[in-house]
Amino acid sequence: MERLLQARHLGHAFDYPLFNNVSLDLFPQESIAVLGVSGSGKSTLLHILSTLLPPQKGSVELFGQDIYALSEEERLKIRRHKVGIVFQSHYLFKGFSAQENIEVAALLAKTSIDTQLLEAFGIEHVRHKRVTQLSGGEQQRVSIARVMTKRPKIIFADEPTGNLDRETAHEVMGKIFEYIERERGGLLLVTHDEKLAGKCSKRFLLEGRRLKPL
Ligand SMILES: Nc1ncnc2c1ncn2[C@@H]1O[C@H](COP(=O)(O)OP(=O)(O)O)[C@@H](O)[C@H]1O
Ligand SMILES: [Mg+2]
Repeated sequence: MERLLQARHLGHAFDYPLFNNVSLDLFPQESIAVLGVSGSGKSTLLHILSTLLPPQKGSVELFGQDIYALSEEERLKIRRHKVGIVFQSHYLFKGFSAQENIEVAALLAKTSIDTQLLEAFGIEHVRHKRVTQLSGGEQQRVSIARVMTKRPKIIFADEPTGNLDRETAHEVMGKIFEYIERERGGLLLVTHDEKLAGKCSKRFLLEGRRLKPL
């Protein structure tokens, strides 16, 4: 079966070594949860896997292409059209409405807005409000909807449900699980929610500079 992602022997350090010799594969319809204490390097690993940060050691292939051997332009193309990244803190355009924020993503990725998705996320009724008028949880759901609107092949999500109550979190993630199943996509999720991690097809713990299967 064709891999969506193949990471080999990744190593990275900032002030101290974060991890070494991390290898990971992601296949279509698979979801991977990464757990670990704060500061263990989960966000750094997600940035490396998702085109944002070249690793100091090792390689990352997305869709069979060594992404850090590509030109910046080619890497940007993959990021824009095939990869969806949900950040820990969301970056919405503050002066815009929820709808406009999602439209920008649709425009860049040449897709259209899925109204059913907005309904499912419980944000249909607030889509004409400005971002600053939305609650933290609504903003988080808008930013996830924006990423989904791109129809990415791989979704990278860094603690995406931190601002949501458990029920809403599981509803939103349920939609993402359905999506990767239907579209033969993949999900790489950083989370502290063990129940959510339990719904993923594989779980790993980033600890002691290693990525350990759970
Ligand atoms: N760009 C950066 N420059 C310097 N240090 C960084 C940078 N990004 C992260 N770090 C440091 O790397 C460590 C791991 O951070 P991070 O990957 O965010 O961990 P986690 O997501 O598991 O909490 C932290 O000590 C953090 O301060
Ligand atoms: Mg983090």
